[in-house]
Amino acid sequence: MKNVQDLSREEAAAELAALAQKIAAADNAYYQNDAPDLTDAEYDALKHRNAAIEQLFPDLVRVDSPSKRVGAAVQSKFSKIEHRFPMLSLGDVFSIAEVEDFVQSVKRFLNTAENIAFMAEPKIDGLSFAARYENGVFVSGATRGDGVVGEDITENLKTLKQLPLMLPQGVPSVLEVRGEVYMAKRDFLALNERHAAEKKKLFANPRNAAAGSLRQLNPRITAERKLSLWAYTWGEVSERQWTTQAEFFDELEAWGFPVNPLNKVCTTLTEIEDNFKHITEIRAELPYDIDGVVYKVNSIELQNRLGFLTRTPRWAIAHKFPAEQALTRINAIRIQVGRTGALTPVADLEPVNVGGVLVSHATLHNEDEIKRKDIRVGDMAVVQRAGDVIPQVVEVRLDKRPADSVPFEFPTTCPECGAHAIREEDEAIRRCTGGLTCPAQAKERLKHFVSKEAFDIVGLGDKVIEQFYDDGIIKHPADIFTIEERNGGASDDLFAFGDDGLHLERRNGWGKLSVDNLFKAINARRTISLPRFIYALGIPQVGSATALLLAQNYGSFDALQADMTARETAKLVAIDGIGGEMGNDIVEFFNEQHNINEINKLRQYVQVENYVDERRTDSVLSAKTVVFTGTLEQMTRAEAKALAQKCGAKVAGSVSAHTDYVVVGADAGSKAKKAAELGIRTLTEEEFIKMTTV
Ligand code: IVH
Repeated sequence: MKNVQDLSREEAAAELAALAQKIAAADNAYYQNDAPDLTDAEYDALKHRNAAIEQLFPDLVRVDSPSKRVGAAVQSKFSKIEHRFPMLSLGDVFSIAEVEDFVQSVKRFLNTAENIAFMAEPKIDGLSFAARYENGVFVSGATRGDGVVGEDITENLKTLKQLPLMLPQGVPSVLEVRGEVYMAKRDFLALNERHAAEKKKLFANPRNAAAGSLRQLNPRITAERKLSLWAYTWGEVSERQWTTQAEFFDELEAWGFPVNPLNKVCTTLTEIEDNFKHITEIRAELPYDIDGVVYKVNSIELQNRLGFLTRTPRWAIAHKFPAEQALTRINAIRIQVGRTGALTPVADLEPVNVGGVLVSHATLHNEDEIKRKDIRVGDMAVVQRAGDVIPQVVEVRLDKRPADSVPFEFPTTCPECGAHAIREEDEAIRRCTGGLTCPAQAKERLKHFVSKEAFDIVGLGDKVIEQFYDDGIIKHPADIFTIEERNGGASDDLFAFGDDGLHLERRNGWGKLSVDNLFKAINARRTISLPRFIYALGIPQVGSATALLLAQNYGSFDALQADMTARETAKLVAIDGIGGEMGNDIVEFFNEQHNINEINKLRQYVQVENYVDERRTDSVLSAKTVVFTGTLEQMTRAEAKALAQKCGAKVAGSVSAHTDYVVVGADAGSKAKKAAELGIRTLTEEEFIKMTTV
């Protein structure tokens, strides 16, 4: 394709006409048929090219130009609805042994030896929805989205006959019912038959068909599709009138919602196991797809005590059906180099369909795994996909091994930069020693730096980072903040003489609009929160949770850096959740000259906000460091810890001079002794509880 600036007037006019047609066809395929014939990237590229040509030839802009169509942008299809309570996901397990672990962990957390009742529910393979009722009237509906913000599908949901639009007297004045929308197997087959007859695109499975049908801009199309639903949980509720999941189901039924008749309370592990066997047996005959069984602690009071992990409840888990497997050939074994130099082997496979998804790569984890399973190029391998995880090689078939096969030799040099790749004694992973001179590591670090939980710069996707790195435009994170300056001149001034700016807008696939958007996205990040900044640095072992802990405990980047530079680690290792090895990595990172240089450079362009802690500050425990030891009687350790944190206290794992209180339970050991030695105040459980109430 010609560069935009090389187009003649005639060529430009012809191309604009062709683009208008192509984009309209793509919109039609997307909106009317829910069968996009272009990828998002291809679609965006067409729109960019259209905008770039229009920019150069403003008088050629057509009446039917795609740039004039309001709401044509694929991304902004639906308006957004923020969930009052996040729509969470569930942890996955794949065996009864893991279910047993889950049940044990629930008991441990609740500090009880008694059996706990669980509601076992078929896990429906559809898409979740939230329906909001105010004074008994359906007012809005949303998809799950990212769990925090979903899409407004109010009108679409209204077309589902099973969804009551009006509830009987006596329901809570605010009631959000959540559940799963699905397409029954028969309805899916019929829809695909119709599509085949009309030469329209076929859906891969009932789940995709349900998603495609519900997420229609035109609700009339949703109405034509046969969609069904099961209700199974709630979001915001003004007055909760039920105390167990079972009672909630009774209420739902009374209100007119479809509730799955297979939902069943199980109290012993045997009941759980028998139920799972039964559901597995009838799975194929069920009129809808399921992918496992969900277990929820039946008592709401216990659910509340158990609370939540970051994205999943502690009181529920999904027991998924075993992973699907397929046999295929390993064509090659490739070595990928990660952000911290880790060499990860990946198998390139003869593409194979595993449970409805085409799989062409599988992770091989590390050097030892390849040795242990004796995985070789040319082998036939059993490949497994489990949930959303990257496909894995379960085993290779020795009976099908080619006669000339040779064991795989793991490289001892980096395939990307040639530096030595070494493996520390007790490490499973071999690492490239090239550091920032290794292009693969540098690129991965940049990708991490701009990723969602870090600087979150849209417009700097993986491909762009790789191209910009290869072309010398961005070599280090700080370079991101100087590209606008380096871009040179007014970006539409194509023929400025002697101007040696970058002129990103002249690059293939870019135009003034996309370049301006990129600059905007970058400039919006010149101020950044402390946790994001720490996470973005890519300190080995420091994920976003640890970055948050560091931010909470140090408050400012200067405070953190000062301690780390001085190798002052007392405060660091006192943080519950930061182990000795992680602490070492953090200190080493801050004492590495190239990291210091990078941080200094970055801070010329980026303002790092101090961390404002929103936990309680008015409690007598606020800002105090508390250590727990021994067995508590009224609550578990985890509950006590959560309570202390709510009051703004820091909970540490070991007693040091920084400790303010040591809460001593029964059979306390060395920590109580150490507290006495250091003259630190000890509290009984009762005293601690009292302090949390003032
Ligand atoms: S409960 C906090 N119950 O599975 C609990 N989810 O992996 C939230 N799902 O996003 C979900 N059947 O789309 C729950 N009986 C059921 C379910 C179910 C299917 C889906 C749902 C959710 C996902 C979680």
